[in-house]
This record gives sequence, structure tokens and C-alpha cells, in this order.
Amino acid sequence: MALLAFATTAGAQRQEITLTDNWQFSRDRQTWQTVQVPHDWAISGPFDKKWDLQVVAIEQNGEKEATEKSGRSGALPWIGEGHYKHTFQIPEGFKGHAELLFDGAMAEPTVFVNGQRAGYWPYGYNTFRVDATPFVKEGENELTVDLQNLEESSRWYPGAGLYRPVTLILTPTKSYIDDWSLFVRPYDAKKVKEGDRVVMKADFDIVNPSERISYEVTVTDADGNQLFPGDKNPLEFANGKIGFMFPVKNAQLWSPERPTLYNMVISLYDGLQKIDEKTLRFGIRTISVSSKGGFQLNGQTRKIKGVCLHHDLGPLGAAVNKAALIRQVKILKDMGCDAIRTAHNMPSQMQIDVCDSLGMMVMAESFDMWVYPKCKNGYARFFRTWADRDIENLVRAHRNHPSIVMWSIGNEIPEQGMAGGRDMAMHLQDLCHQLDPTRPVTQGMDRAENALGTGFAQTMDVPGFNYRVHKYEKNISQLWQGFLLGSETASTVSSRGVYKFPVKVTDNSHFSSWAKNYDPQAIKTADGQCSSYDVEYCSWSNLPDDDWRWQDDKPWVIGEFVWTGFDYLGEPTPYDEYWPSRSSYFGICDLAGLPKDRFYLYRSHWNMQQHTIHLLPHWTWPGREGEVTPVYCYTDYPEAELFVNGKSQGRICKQADKDANDGTGANRLNRYRLRWNDVRYEPGELRVVVYDGQGLPAGEQTVRTVGKPAKLKLDVWTQQSDLSPLTSHLSPLNPDGQDLAYVTVSLVDRRGNLIPQAADQLNFEVSGAATFRAVCNGDATSLEPFTEPTMKLFNGQLVVVLQAARQPGKAVLTVSDPSRGIRQRVTIPVM
Ligand code: GAL
Repeated sequence: MALLAFATTAGAQRQEITLTDNWQFSRDRQTWQTVQVPHDWAISGPFDKKWDLQVVAIEQNGEKEATEKSGRSGALPWIGEGHYKHTFQIPEGFKGHAELLFDGAMAEPTVFVNGQRAGYWPYGYNTFRVDATPFVKEGENELTVDLQNLEESSRWYPGAGLYRPVTLILTPTKSYIDDWSLFVRPYDAKKVKEGDRVVMKADFDIVNPSERISYEVTVTDADGNQLFPGDKNPLEFANGKIGFMFPVKNAQLWSPERPTLYNMVISLYDGLQKIDEKTLRFGIRTISVSSKGGFQLNGQTRKIKGVCLHHDLGPLGAAVNKAALIRQVKILKDMGCDAIRTAHNMPSQMQIDVCDSLGMMVMAESFDMWVYPKCKNGYARFFRTWADRDIENLVRAHRNHPSIVMWSIGNEIPEQGMAGGRDMAMHLQDLCHQLDPTRPVTQGMDRAENALGTGFAQTMDVPGFNYRVHKYEKNISQLWQGFLLGSETASTVSSRGVYKFPVKVTDNSHFSSWAKNYDPQAIKTADGQCSSYDVEYCSWSNLPDDDWRWQDDKPWVIGEFVWTGFDYLGEPTPYDEYWPSRSSYFGICDLAGLPKDRFYLYRSHWNMQQHTIHLLPHWTWPGREGEVTPVYCYTDYPEAELFVNGKSQGRICKQADKDANDGTGANRLNRYRLRWNDVRYEPGELRVVVYDGQGLPAGEQTVRTVGKPAKLKLDVWTQQSDLSPLTSHLSPLNPDGQDLAYVTVSLVDRRGNLIPQAADQLNFEVSGAATFRAVCNGDATSLEPFTEPTMKLFNGQLVVVLQAARQPGKAVLTVSDPSRGIRQRVTIPVM
């Protein structure tokens, strides 16, 4: 049991105990196993199409006829029941309040304390609180959680079980601070300026107040300097509802670039005895949206460079983990991304804490459906009774996070075109405003004509449109708001390291006729993979370049959220009918978190701090000698010259929109990519030299035909590293039983060049102060379980995840490639 925080007087203090170890878990209440929570019972597999085979027409994809679909929700055994048991201690003489805080439980959790039903919450993604006070007794208590996942209740892999933390909160008396009543924000957002004295307003409620109760507040900055109440510490008299203001001198505003946080501690006293103490982190920042300024953070207009993320963490499944979340956010920041949309549901507290401290804006979403179901047993079953309560928990639990910049009430809600839909939207938006007047509310709409025709889109603070950029112009003409958001964009598909020939950029033109000549079926091939030339997408979607034309040229487009930052389990479009295939191809990074080529395309456009020079494809194509093998360079530089074995292939420039978009769409990629389409492959060296705006050489990159596989390269990342997870830097693990090391394994030749198509079977052995947690190679068609210490390389690479022990020491990972007799070892300090 990890004891978190807090107060000063022993025996009379709040305890927040995260219930991590020694849970008993069973699928059938017969056989039990000991597990750690967060836990995902389904992630070990085995993968099998039988788990989630469906005969359905996916309406969202425009399908009319039902066909057999496999892998839509990950082909993992998440459907069915799960049961958890745990014991906890209540101190002798306890007369206080006992609460259980669930950050989400998949799904439909019923909570029992000492055999008595204490709580229930149907939506697996939401946080909820259970008042356990009436059911607890001194000494040992038993907590039981029963869960059930119905078939066809999700359009993606939802995970299974207690996949987010469970916390026991004990306060010594029945008078305590209602955690979710706490709300801190600027008193007058218009007066918030960096470096100024900013007046903040805070509220909270005391449950069971009495006349004897007083409170004390201290506010400190990130360095621990006390800002409030200054030199004296007044105890103020309190009754149930408290509201107060406090100034912050020389305010440092929160932003993705400088995520400054402050701390507030509120203490409650009954007479002289401290009876509760609550710590809260907050940031100071403002948000506004308008036709004049678009989206503004702290008064500065910025286009949102966002990605959508599902909640799973690849090979960890849905089981939330701080190190894994930090890695995701750091990879995204390296790309220049500044926002995440938590598609299509409530985020974990852990994820938002990470976004607060690392600087990542968040659109916190709630629902993928309301009353009209998108899948047979989805949330539609609960919407009417639970939607308001779900919104309330989302907003109250998360509204102090500076990273959250907007709430989303839905994704592609079918009611956008139905009678009554607009009123429902209005109702949910009003509810958000009531609970939090500081943030705008949005949702992602996919049927623009319907949404605009019913007034659904016009009700939203931020009208969000999913895909269909060719309709943006018409949409904006009907929007009083004067701006719109690309709430979901791209859905370009690719598999890391896979290149298909001939490279065909489809000639649809997004400004004349939508997808006229594009046959999305044609991108499917027998290998179940998509090409990394980044030219493939779905019938409803488009390429990154197609979004950027609108993002860059129209001030009224306020940003985008790309579908998706990372591959996720389930939804293997375009291979929903292909087996085996069980995870998505949409990710900018693959399921293991390794960047696909597309990562560098976004980086070249989004990361304004660092330069990008990235060449593709790899240059090892035995059998393709003399054949046309196009070469692309993703770079922020405007111009470059390509050489094959020293022979120039031409010096080319990015083209202005009018030249790139010549009406056929064939050249439309020339605005953002440098492409040499007629290069003929010959083994040797591919070298690009880039030129800056003045025409001066600014950098180069070389890709070589590789030699024989010679060794395994192991690159370690842990959260203690200050560097991007994409660089190699051996940093230690925390001995906390939770921390993770991500080790990227690459098969390379003698000179260190990646063997591009290697698929060797590797084995892993972990000893010392860590255990083997998982492995993933990013191959959407792989059926090898993530939790067994063996896996094939996918295009030369995979990622092994180690979990730290609770005691310091050294963790040793040995990777062996028996087919070549190669072994490599790395030692990671655990300290
Ligand atoms: C969108 C939907 C997402 C995902 C995506 C795939 O329409 O909102 O959840 O299904 O399509 O392209």
C-alpha cells in the first residue's frame, strides 16, 4: 500500500491510500489470482478473432450492408465478467468519513464493502466516489468490485477491469472538505497578465459543517515560496460554503511552453484540532474563443496542433501508468504537438496531471453516443439516466486542471441530424457552463449539413467538425460563431517501415470534388499493412497536407486534432474484414510508440523550435534495382537536393499552394513535402542536403543500403530522462514498483544502420530490480501476446517494457536473437 501525503498531526489527518497491491482477481469467482491495480484483465490475450467477431455495418464509415468484422475491439478477451477483492484497514476508534474514489472501472462496476452494496457507476470511463462510511468497521474490511463488459459495447478496445487507480480516502471526523467542490480560477479573466498581480477566486464546501470549524489556506509557488496568506496565517471562521479570493503577485501563467503550477493547501480545524487538509495543484491561465482572435490562450492566438488519443497504452492495454503517459506526452511534444483530445471519453486523472506538469492542452471528452446507439450495447443504454451525472463528475473532478482547455460533450453524435438533438446539445453544454463557466464546450460533428440544418452546430461554443475539409467554407458561412475547429482530422493510415509500390497519390482534389476518384478499397493488400509514404486514407478522410491548407490559410480554422497520435487497439480500418489485424493504422506513432514516417511530417510543420530532416523510404531494396522508388523528404526547410550515390536527382522547392493545387490533386503534396518521384533504386547511399530560406545549405541526412545484420541496439528511456523518448539516454528507474523503462530494440548492421525488414524472433530475459512487463512491435497483424517475453521484430524494431521493483538495485535486460546467435544486454540502475 502506498501512503500518499499529508497533514501534520498524527492520528488526526486525512489519508489518501492508493490501493495498489494484493488485489484478488477472478473471472468466475472460482479461481483467484493476485494482481496489482491498475489492471487490465484482457491484455494478455490470447488474441483471437472469436472474442469480438461481429456481423455489422459500420454506419460511421458509410457502410450499408452488414459484413463479418474481426479485431474491431482488439481481438482480446475483454467481454464478460470480472471480480476484484481487496482488504483494507480502518483504524481503531475511527469516527470519520471513508470514501472510495474510482478513477474509472471497465465496466458497470458495482462496489461492495463488507458484503454490502455501497455504489455503482455504469460508465466505465468516468471517475466516481463511493461513500463507504456506513459500511466500514474498525480493523479489516473487505472491498469487492464486480464488473461486466457486454459484447458490442464498444467501437474500440475498452480494456477490462480496474484499469485506473482506486483510492481510499479517510478523514478523521465527519466534517471534511468535499474534494470535488474545490474550484480555483482567476477572478476576472480579462485582467490576467503574465507578471502582473492576478486575483484568484476559490470555493469549496465543507461537508457537515459546524460553528466551531475554521479554515486556513496557504498558496505556494512551484519553488515552495509562500504567496498567500503572506506573513500571517489567519484562521477564518467557516460554515458550509466557502469562497475567498487571493492575489498572486508576479503571476507566471500556465502554457504548453511554460507549464507553471501553484499549490494550495486548505486545512480545516475544529477548535484547535486539525481535522482535514487538502492539497490542490492549479495553474493560472485564460482561454477564449472568438471570431476575432480564434482560440486564445493567455490572450495569444494559437492554432491548436492536437492529436486524438484513445486511452489504451498499447501493450499495457488500458491499465494506466504514469511513466507510459509521460512517454506519450514527451513524444508528442517532440513533434510540436500541443494538445490532446481524449477520444471519446473521460481521461484519467493521471493523464491530466501529466499534461498539467509537462504542458499539453487537453480537450476532455465525454461521450461517443447519446440516446441513439452506435453499437448494440454501448453507452446509449445509460444516457438518459446518467448523462448529467457523468458530465458532473467529469467537470467537477477535472476543472482545476490548467491543461484542460475545453470540454467535449460528444463525438459524431447521430442526434446531430435528429429532432431534439439540438436541445440535448444545449442542455449538456449548459450543464458544463454551470459547473465551470471558464471553459468553452465543443463536440465533433461529422454530418455538417445535418448539424448546420438542425441548428445543432450553431448551439456550440466551439463548433467542431470531423474531416471533410472541403465543406469548411460552406460550414463557416452558416456559423454565427465565425470560426470552427477541426475536431478530428486526417485519418491517414500507415504501417511503420512498410512502403508500397508504385506510390500512388490519388488525384482527388479536396477543393473541387471530394474523393471522386479515390477508392479506399484499393489501398488494401494481402499483407494487411498500409504504406508509409503517407498517401493512404479512408473514404471519409484525407492526408495531413489537406488539413494544413485550411489550417494555414484560413484564420477562422482554429486548429486540429489529428486522428490519432498513437495507434490503438481495435478499429483496424481499412482491414476490419481482414484477419489477422487487431489494431489501428491511424497512428502517427505505432502501437509501441515508435514514430512512423508521418511523425516527421507533422514535426516538420509543427515543431517550430527544432529542425527536422527526414528521408524515406529506407534504401535496402534487393530486387528493385533500376525500378522507380520515389524518395520523400520531410523537413521544415523549403528546399533540398537529393543525391543517389553522389548523383544529383535535382534540387527542388516546396511549392506555393496555387502551384501545388493545380486542380487535379496530384501535386498537392508538394506544398509540404519535398518529393523526388522518379528516383531509380540503386544500392548505396541516399543523401539529402537541405537549404534554408536564403538558399544556403543548412543540413543533410544520409540513408544507406544496409549490410548484414550484426548486432542488437538497445535504447533505454525512463521518465527521469530529460531528453525526448526518441533519443537514447540511459536514465534510472524509480524503485516504486510502478515505474517503467522502455527499451527500443533494433537489429542493425556493423555500422549501426537499421535492418529495415528484419522479422527475427527475439527472446527477453529480465533480472535484478525489475520485471518484464510487456513487448510490442507495432505490427497490427501480429498475434503474439504482449505479455510473453518473446516477439518478432517488425521492420527491424520492437519495444520492451520493464517494470521497476520496489527496492533499488540494477535491472538487467538480455535480448537474444537465437537465429543469428546474437545477444545484447543492458543494465538500468533502479534508484
Ligand atoms: C471517426 C470517429 C473515430 C474513428 C475514426 C476513424 O469518424 O470519430 O472514432 O472511428 O473515424 O477514421
